[in-house]
Amino acid sequence: MKEVIVKLLKKALKGKDVSLKDEEILNLIEVPPSQDMGDYAFPCFFLSKQLHDNPSQIAIELREKIGNAPPTDFEDIQTQGPYINFFVNRKSLARQVIWDAITQKKDFGESKLGKGKRTMIEFPSPNTNKPLHLGHLRNMAIGESISRILEFNDEKIIRANMNNDRGIHICKSMVAYKKWGREKTPTDKKEKSDHFVGDFYVMFNKKKTKKLEAEAQEMLQKWEAGDGNTLLLWKLMNGWALNGFKETYKTFGIKHDVNYFESKVYKKGKEMILDGVKEGIFEQAKNGEIKINLEEEKLGEKILLRKDGTSVYIVFDLALAKIKFEDYKLNKSFYVVGNEQDYHFNVLFSILKKLGFEKEMKHISYGMVNLPTGKMKSREGTVVDADDLIEQVRLLAEKELSKRDKLSKTELKKRSLIIALAAIKYLLLKVDINKNMLFNPKESVSFEGDTGPYILYSYARASSIMEKAPSVQKKAEVNELEEKDIALVKKLSQFPEIVESAYKNLNPSLVANYSYQLAQTFNEFYHNCKVIGSEEEAFRLALVQSFRQVLKNALALIGIETLDKM
Ligand code: ARG
Repeated sequence: MKEVIVKLLKKALKGKDVSLKDEEILNLIEVPPSQDMGDYAFPCFFLSKQLHDNPSQIAIELREKIGNAPPTDFEDIQTQGPYINFFVNRKSLARQVIWDAITQKKDFGESKLGKGKRTMIEFPSPNTNKPLHLGHLRNMAIGESISRILEFNDEKIIRANMNNDRGIHICKSMVAYKKWGREKTPTDKKEKSDHFVGDFYVMFNKKKTKKLEAEAQEMLQKWEAGDGNTLLLWKLMNGWALNGFKETYKTFGIKHDVNYFESKVYKKGKEMILDGVKEGIFEQAKNGEIKINLEEEKLGEKILLRKDGTSVYIVFDLALAKIKFEDYKLNKSFYVVGNEQDYHFNVLFSILKKLGFEKEMKHISYGMVNLPTGKMKSREGTVVDADDLIEQVRLLAEKELSKRDKLSKTELKKRSLIIALAAIKYLLLKVDINKNMLFNPKESVSFEGDTGPYILYSYARASSIMEKAPSVQKKAEVNELEEKDIALVKKLSQFPEIVESAYKNLNPSLVANYSYQLAQTFNEFYHNCKVIGSEEEAFRLALVQSFRQVLKNALALIGIETLDKM
């Protein structure tokens, strides 16, 4: 509907001395606080400077120019002081949104904005020395949601995972295992295999001495030299870590199209550095160190190869950035990584630019997740494991479900997992990506308030109405629209705009918050409007069905599955 208003305004502005793009007009259109000011309003103060007139006068003049708007779109267009207020034809809006939702089904809301683009999204890219933690859950929730939002706008998405499988961190777990592992395996200990590896990392840090640190360094050198036994142990422990991750990805609903490994690409990075020295892009100091001066970019000086020839973290990324574009003929490459690596990516993109590699690359940087109990530190073992957290929230959901219904064990498990994931994903996504946040497991799983389970519950409610319904009509007519009907119609009709804006801003929180508002609007409708047995039964059934569809589509974009029964 906003698009129609943009068109009308553009027409009215023709011949006037103002330059406003469609996009700008669109952003100026407001939704007034009360219904008697119409459904949409255009404020004219913005034009008064350019048109040298007072805003109320401009409003009147533009209103005249608009003339008779199509009655199928608007019941009325009025001016009120500096505003032009648009009263949409509610019945036709209702008719349209119901038709669109019911006929387009899972495609309702999609767009072709990203047509022809191939984009790689990298997430969560763990280190292979410890299990995934709460921060990775935020990472994965964001990565998957952005992937889905882009796909919904017709981009081709390649989900990539980068495994940091070499380096000092993994050597630490290896040293500890060698010393205290007694050749036991995860199966012997009946432990999830990545947790098993992580235990040794924590052990290393607890018992850390200068000597132990030196042993880890030595192990790294042996690894780089290709020492047989070291490689064997490395493969074994990495295998455990990677297998464990796989299970977590599966539970969380994530599947990668490609896995990259630091161990396979870092040598190529080193070569790039050495070539860069020859070309004068990097400088080699007397002691052998290779570095780059990024003073101009205000990023200081960055060492790339240490004096012993070993490479620092960023080196593999230089090679990988190129490999990605070559492997997949990409248009864009995104990295979902926490904001503690903002500097890393600034440096990475600056160096690539100096190397003449200028492509559309973006660090999707997100804030930290903290717990009510304080900060997480994986070295100290105070980190919250992703698996443990999911299970903890699932048990809370199970408890809540058991109060309501008698369910079989498998059904209980299935439903409680869906609810737990909805709780976690919603909480992680409703906050702006770049803000730090607090994660309270208990609060997340509440069936009331601004939570995932509350949203799911509204869906289940709608499903239970539809279960009793004879059939839905795509063209159900309505005699009288009540306030709560129209509120729901309007909310539903906003979905395509929300999708567009989430796409343009790479912002899942818009979809998350929309889902919650939609659920709230539906619940108000549900409490105030009789559906089955009412005079408007056919219309309201179609409306409820449309709600189910739109909410399902919105939730899918944030990776949340729905339940018909809770
Ligand atoms: N493994 C790193 C970490 O856990 C993140 C890697 C991000 N991706 C990249 N291409 N550098 O902090």
